[in-house]
Amino acid sequence: MRQAGRYQPEYRALRRERTLLDIVRDPALCAQVTVLPVRQLGVDAAILFSDIMVPLGPVGIDYTLEEHVGPVLARPVRDAADVRAIGRLVPHRDLPYVLESVARARELLGPTPLIAFAGAPFTLASYLVEGRPSRAHLATKGMMWERPALFRDLMARLADVAAAHLAAQVEAGAQAVQLFDSWAGTLSPAAYDEFVAPAVSAIFSALAPLGVPRIAFALGAGELLRRLRDAGADAVGVDWRVELATAGERVGPRTALQGNLDPALLLAPWSELERAARQALDQGVRHPGGFVFNLGHGVLPNTPPEVLARLVSLVHAYPVPAARPAPRAAPRAGDEERR
Ligand code: CP3
Repeated sequence: MRQAGRYQPEYRALRRERTLLDIVRDPALCAQVTVLPVRQLGVDAAILFSDIMVPLGPVGIDYTLEEHVGPVLARPVRDAADVRAIGRLVPHRDLPYVLESVARARELLGPTPLIAFAGAPFTLASYLVEGRPSRAHLATKGMMWERPALFRDLMARLADVAAAHLAAQVEAGAQAVQLFDSWAGTLSPAAYDEFVAPAVSAIFSALAPLGVPRIAFALGAGELLRRLRDAGADAVGVDWRVELATAGERVGPRTALQGNLDPALLLAPWSELERAARQALDQGVRHPGGFVFNLGHGVLPNTPPEVLARLVSLVHAYPVPAARPAPRAAPRAGDEERR
């Protein structure tokens, strides 16, 4: 999830001098910002410091990241000419600084894994079509219903961008990928199946040969968890609207869960936070597909860093039951002779 950000005094100080995109384009600095939460909080993995909008500049989207607002476009993507103007991403040519940041972060991290991420097609489309953050996504859904072929073309182009971006980050050293479909939860399951799932499947299929864990996260998307699995996710992010035990039943025993603490609990009295964290752990560790403790969405800017560090210690101290012995594998050819 978002690990680096405004809750860190060091990040706020840096952002007084540099924009977010300045940091992203400066690999030495970007690697340091990526690693800071690992050093300060003791978390078990880093997520590359970037934004879902970063690969869209090189493919022709003119945008700014407005403080306290989010991505704002100079000109929203509304018609066929706008969609066809979205080009292909060639990461080594277009985003060399991202690949350099991955390599540098890996050097600083040692054995701690680095997660690469990208925005999923629907979430990217919602910023592109609305032109700015939106709650109802009416222009985006309007394009979907009124111009389905154009909308599918947009999804396919954005899937190509995300797949190329993620694959290049893995080749540069990232050990897992996370696809953020923050706004997919605003869709009906039928609309998700028809318009979005094919694009998400295309991304995960393209990444399959790389052999890294593929994590899918969508906010408010309890009804979509099984669909994320079916699209090829090895792990699904779960928010606090769905209990982990329920999420586990939905995805079944072969898909890992990640989540699902409400980030607002980091502002609550410690006893409440501890109770909720233990409840998540109690349910998560029982899931046979594996469990990554995490927040259900990004860290809120007014979160005290020391509460995050204390939460990480609580999670690390939690007694994880010994893994059950794996079911006996079927005998392989040659086993007989070796015995
Ligand atoms: O190092 C890390 O932990 C990675 C951090 C990260 C950022 N963006 C940096 C950022 C991640 C994982 C993202 C992904 C992202 N960006 C998503 C998907 C995840 C989610 O939160 O649902 C989305 C929807 C965006 C688009 C975006 N960028 C928004 C809505 C905003 C917030 C606007 C604001 O100012 O509150 C941004 C800006 C942004 N991206 C910040 C950070 C740390 C905010 C602080 C800043 O502007 O410096």
